[in-house]
Amino acid sequence: MGFANFFIFATLVTSALSAVVPINGGKYILETRVTLTGILSVKITAETLGWIGWGISPRGTMMGSDMVMGGFNGATGEAYIGDRYASHPGLPELDREQNVELVSASENATHTVLEFTRAVDTGDIDQDLTVENEVQFIVWAIGDTDDLVYHGVGSRGSIQLNLMDG
Ligand code: HEM
Repeated sequence: MGFANFFIFATLVTSALSAVVPINGGKYILETRVTLTGILSVKITAETLGWIGWGISPRGTMMGSDMVMGGFNGATGEAYIGDRYASHPGLPELDREQNVELVSASENATHTVLEFTRAVDTGDIDQDLTVENEVQFIVWAIGDTDDLVYHGVGSRGSIQLNLMDG
């Protein structure tokens, strides 16, 4: 088993949340869980040392998506996260209300792990979308570095998932 595979294996075995969804050939592994008290936990293990993006989307595209961008900056040794909204093409802007809690972010030689929580319904009707008990579009993306710039065509996409199923 190669190092990267072992890393992913160990990550899944030691701390899997309820639903585990490998995306982009396993280069972006999404784990989610919704508690009875209405908290969504998200853990992403991605093959990058740059930023990780995740979002709930009306149509599977960026526009109108409720996004999170975060990661671990190896140069500064600091984790970062932001609750964002994509109202125009380009970098999704930071929400006026920040409704995402960073749990942890870390990286090794090949991968970044980002964990955060948010309320299923944050109450921010302007810049957040509610987690529904139905199939929704989930958008994902990764950056090559911790500079919050364009991901490239091969490093973004969307899936359809009922987050409540986890
Ligand atoms: C630095 C911030 C970002 C910039 C400058 C950016 C820019 C772009 C551009 C120019 C496109 C059209 C070209 C293409 O298809 O690749 C695009 C598409 C896309 N991006 Fe981003 N993006 C950013 C962040 C994100 C994040 C955080 C996500 C997901 C969480 C995301 C998900 C997508 C998806 C799914 C598409 C294809 C559908 C669409 O065109 O909307 N992007 N992005």
